[in-house]
Amino acid sequence: MQNFFFDGHSGFRYLILLLGVATVLYALFGAITKRPYDKPMRALSSGLAGAMHLQILLGFALLFSGRFSPAIAIHFLTMLLAATSAQIPVSVMRRRPAEEKSYLPHAVWAVLALALVAAGLVAIGRPIVGSG
Ligand code: HEM
Repeated sequence: MQNFFFDGHSGFRYLILLLGVATVLYALFGAITKRPYDKPMRALSSGLAGAMHLQILLGFALLFSGRFSPAIAIHFLTMLLAATSAQIPVSVMRRRPAEEKSYLPHAVWAVLALALVAAGLVAIGRPIVGSG
């Protein structure tokens, strides 16, 4: 069971990395071309935040299946901050009237989320891609 959660948690990072990079690129494209805010931006950023939340659940499942090391405390904290960074622009834009929604905050927060994910992996001595 631990292997199942480990492989799931390990592999799911690639979806997060993919959504993170796609969110940054799409947001930069929208900001540079000054397009009106659109649904794909909302879908990408919500997908990133949702995937991060699911990854946290998988992380807990892995933890409670008995996989533990002291460095997990830092991994856990940085990943919580990463998920928060991914969620903030989604929540903020949802509350804004249509004419005030903008792309750039999505790029900034997604870059921060990706940097925190990278830091959370370094904290447990793992590479961003692969198992090390
Ligand atoms: C967005 C959030 C997260 C991402 C992207 C992430 C990603 C990863 C990755 C890539 C690994 C290494 C897998 C490998 O070596 O192949 C890992 C290990 C692990 N993660 Fe996470 N993680 C996240 C959040 C969490 C959280 C919130 C917890 C705990 C509640 C957690 C618990 C663990 C544990 C226990 C390990 C195994 C460490 C070890 O082998 O010593 N993760 N995580």
